Amino acid sequence: MKTETEAIPTISSSNGLPILKELTKQRSLLAGLEAMHKELGNIFEISMPGFKPIVLSGPEVAREILVTQRFQFTWRNDGDPVTRLLRHGLLVEDGEFHDTLRGYMQPALQRSRTNNYLPVMLACTNRVLESWEDGSTKDMLVEMRKLALMILMEALFSVDIAPDLPRLWGSILKVLRYISPGLWLINSKFPRPGYRNSINKLDEYLYAIISERRQKGDDKEDMLADLINQESMDDDLIRDQMLTMLIAGHDTSTALLSWALYLLGRHPEVMKRARDEVDTVMGTDEPTLTKVNQLHFVEQIIKEALRLFPPIHVGNRITNVDQNLAGCPVPKGSRVMLSYYLTHRDEQHWEQAERFNPDRFDRQTNHERSSYSYLPFGGGPRNCIGAAFAQIESRVVLARILQDFDLNLISQSVTKHMGATLEPSPGVLMRLQKRDHVK
Ligand code: HEM
Repeated sequence: MKTETEAIPTISSSNGLPILKELTKQRSLLAGLEAMHKELGNIFEISMPGFKPIVLSGPEVAREILVTQRFQFTWRNDGDPVTRLLRHGLLVEDGEFHDTLRGYMQPALQRSRTNNYLPVMLACTNRVLESWEDGSTKDMLVEMRKLALMILMEALFSVDIAPDLPRLWGSILKVLRYISPGLWLINSKFPRPGYRNSINKLDEYLYAIISERRQKGDDKEDMLADLINQESMDDDLIRDQMLTMLIAGHDTSTALLSWALYLLGRHPEVMKRARDEVDTVMGTDEPTLTKVNQLHFVEQIIKEALRLFPPIHVGNRITNVDQNLAGCPVPKGSRVMLSYYLTHRDEQHWEQAERFNPDRFDRQTNHERSSYSYLPFGGGPRNCIGAAFAQIESRVVLARILQDFDLNLISQSVTKHMGATLEPSPGVLMRLQKRDHVK
């Protein structure tokens, strides 16, 4: 533990070499961060001209940032593309307004209501699986994105996005690129041509949904109804929440599901165990909620995929007072990045941290670990509002895929890409073989 007077470690000529080596060897920014963590510890500064984020990791500091000292941090950063895109969306608001918005959206994502989305999740999954031909090869990153978008839009806004996907697809990808880390981090005025058209296209789509719902009156019980029923919510504010949900609620599930399938492809013995569990619990029947809740090994796989590849791998904040973090003074106005990725791979808290081992989440063996060492959904009052939704969705989708298909991984060199989420790049190609009962 550092003393309070110690300055924040940064790269210097004496410790820079191993970090540079890893960066060049693995050609990944994340590998660079891992090397810095190893050399410099749980707090370090990345010093670039115009961009000096402080990277933090570990359960103690996570608890401070997410819970005990949370009022000393804000999320909103007006120069940042995420804020420019989402305007006044829940994700980029702070204080009372954040809590009010969260209160409007929470009911539709409560665990009890989330369970009611099972039929929608199943229907969308079945539609996608029906389009997979026996013996075909598919990119799971694309397929899971399609599916996650369909589920999200149908469950929360009662909209079938499938017919509009061909014309919206390019805009969705472009908007995701717009908010991915890039040169704008160093210079917020960095020109970003072409994005306006894509944002306009999505806006047009969302405003049309709001307008149609207002005209028809409302007999639906979904998040859109909850938003429209709030007098204080005009169309612009509703658009901001819908776009927030569309982005935060689909890109994360896309990453999780494609990483989970990639890991299963890399570990056929784990895939076999998962398929055996699905066969034993569900047979060839459609999954019910009770059955889905019995898929303990599938759940362990999802948890382990989230540990190794947390889709949101970092929590970004700005400090609003001078303070001490991990034993170092951090001035007001600093950009801090709480790394869930580094925390999840810290050997101090995880045995053989780099190894894919779903059994570490086996409830029977009850592995001890310090709280806040596992944060795929963040923590505290700003944790993921869609966590329950995502958990049930991922189990249903994986179970249905394993129930109907044998999968073989084709992609050999898949790397971790820091886009809007941490995603497998360039994709996850798999060969799909229909199982006998669906042939
Ligand atoms: C595997 C899926 C998902 C993962 C891993 C994930 C992860 C996270 C994390 C880590 C945070 C906190 C970020 C921080 O600390 O700054 C967060 C916040 C959020 N998530 Fe998720 N998420 C997932 C799915 C979803 C879904 C399905 C929805 C919507 C239906 C959603 C909506 C949001 C929103 C709106 C916030 C901001 C909450 C607030 O600021 O109050 N997420 N998510």
